[in-house]
Amino acid sequence: MYYTQALAHIQKIIEENDAKILLQKIVDFLHTSFAHYNWVGIYLIHENMLLLKAWQGKKATEHTKIPLGVGICGSAAQTGKTEIIDNVKDDQRYLACFASTRSELVVPIQKNRRIIGEIDIDSDTPAAFTKNDAQFVEKIADMLSQHIA
Ligand code: SME
Repeated sequence: MYYTQALAHIQKIIEENDAKILLQKIVDFLHTSFAHYNWVGIYLIHENMLLLKAWQGKKATEHTKIPLGVGICGSAAQTGKTEIIDNVKDDQRYLACFASTRSELVVPIQKNRRIIGEIDIDSDTPAAFTKNDAQFVEKIADMLSQHIA
């Protein structure tokens, strides 16, 4: 699917669903629409912890709570910067979730200049994520931020 087409669909999901089911619908849609998005999760920050609120993929992760600053996820949540990791095995911060994961994209969600969560995508393909993926997911994070607490 094309990114512009996907963004239009996500906009529709946001307009038509309330906050409770919105996150699940978005991870479901991203996972089914892009073959290299093997696991898609959305974490929200609560008391300095990232809490996994919705995910789609082959398996559940044991990392459903990640302290800020820990792992690639905790790092992105602390700095507010998108992380594109071409080879997770080369990154010392990496918290392994799935043996099959080779690359990872983490995009913080900001609201009123505060980081409130993030979108985390794992791929079984090495260096699966391009700048286009990052920009695409950053747009989703922006669209979402006004609709979540
Ligand atoms: N790999 C992440 C942890 C979350 S799992 O990928 C679902 C990290 O290093 O923070």
